Amino acid sequence: MRVGVVGLGYVGAVTATCLADLGHEVVGIDIDRHKVGLINAGRSPIVEAGLEERIVRTTGLGRLRAQESLSGVPGWAEVILVCVGTPSGPTGNTDLSHLDQVIAEVAAACSTHGPSRFRAVVVRSTVPPGTVDGPVRARLAEASGLRVDEEIGLAHCPEFLREGSGVADFLDPPFTVVGVRDDRTAALLAELFAPIAAPFHRTTVAAAEALKYACNAFHAVKITFANELGRLLGTLGVDAREVMRLFCEDDRLNLSPAYLRPGFAFGGSCLPKDLRALLAVARRAEVELPMLASVLPSNEALVRTVTRRVLDLGVRRGALLGLSFKPETDDLRESPYVELAEALCGKGIRLRIYDPVVHPDRLFGTNLRYVTEHLPHLRDLLQPDPASALADAEVAVVADPGVGGVPALLAAPPPRILDLCGRLGPAVERLPGYEGIAW
Ligand SMILES: NC(=O)c1ccc[n+]([C@@H]2O[C@H](COP(=O)([O-])OP(=O)(O)OC[C@H]3O[C@@H](n4cnc5c(N)ncnc54)[C@H](O)[C@@H]3O)[C@@H](O)[C@H]2O)c1
Repeated sequence: MRVGVVGLGYVGAVTATCLADLGHEVVGIDIDRHKVGLINAGRSPIVEAGLEERIVRTTGLGRLRAQESLSGVPGWAEVILVCVGTPSGPTGNTDLSHLDQVIAEVAAACSTHGPSRFRAVVVRSTVPPGTVDGPVRARLAEASGLRVDEEIGLAHCPEFLREGSGVADFLDPPFTVVGVRDDRTAALLAELFAPIAAPFHRTTVAAAEALKYACNAFHAVKITFANELGRLLGTLGVDAREVMRLFCEDDRLNLSPAYLRPGFAFGGSCLPKDLRALLAVARRAEVELPMLASVLPSNEALVRTVTRRVLDLGVRRGALLGLSFKPETDDLRESPYVELAEALCGKGIRLRIYDPVVHPDRLFGTNLRYVTEHLPHLRDLLQPDPASALADAEVAVVADPGVGGVPALLAAPPPRILDLCGRLGPAVERLPGYEGIAW
């Protein structure tokens, strides 16, 4: 394919070179004359293992060249990948000025060629969700005079390479993700990345944009988690390397998709208690753990947010389906659903609750004490079956879809459904009063 790559920094230089090495014909564009000169001289503009030898090879074969302006490229290329920087502004916001300028230039150049040949403009730079379908789409349409998705394609294709192993990461990524609306652009990108043997995922533009931030935020959280534990354990004379070595061996709960589904707050008899204990140990040792210290407040904020969402619906009668901190247990200690029920009742919502496993007659010990303290009227609120809980409810707050036949009951729904679990299935999700907690 004929490919233009705009911006020849870490991402652009690796992208342009590797695409040329995979057999495409690539022109790289950068306003930095020095970088352009280096590439055309067969030298790498950045230090990156394996890059220079590929630049030598691909420029030698005539499959890669660089230039300082877009001149001729938008008319020639089938795909134009935009890889310019999107640095932090003074308040942490993203500076989109380079991207905006390039899109305006590409669009203006495309307008002179008209709609006769379809080409795709693909943003590879990291941008906040909403950027490509918002300001980029508007600029592309306005400056080209073309109908986006019909006469000119637009997509976001995030890059996941790490500096230092950029070439290896580009050629062997975990996946290729393209956020795109129109099929022609999706097909062009599938063809572009076909030589790369990685799963190819098509998703929405905003999901592709968000995915990149999710990945980098998670990497930062992982590093900070290991470092906070390291700081505390080192002070206590425990070898944190040994702890984390064993920690990483658990690929069922620790390094796995477990606990990574968005939904409602955590609770139960272990997580809050042990996190508090760890923080107490850190306080005694005078070790600050800002990230771990923010976890329980974040969890509590989620209970407040959901309470507010229910209250904002302006309803008076609600059903809560599921009460224990997770399905298949009757442990109510520190269940965030008990706190939610307490908050909703406190705000005057007439609540009926159903949980298939929780029977007030069978609660005793600390479990009973917890409920007596937090929801003394539990016995009156609990219903024998989900239908009774839903009987006159104006909103169903669904914690646990395991509660017998709930999706079927919701098909004759109360006016509103607030789904905290995300497992109710498409038939319920299509209902007009349905909303998910994070989707
Ligand atoms: N560096 C990484 O490891 C990495 C990985 C994944 C994604 N990203 C994202 O990719 C994007 C690019 O990152 P980078 O590290 O390659 O940036 P960079 O700063 O190294 O390179 C950006 C290049 O764009 C050029 N440029 C700016 N305006 C231009 C214009 N009008 N026309 C042509 N060229 C122009 C600059 O001269 C520069 O060479 C950013 O959004 C970044 O967040 C970076």
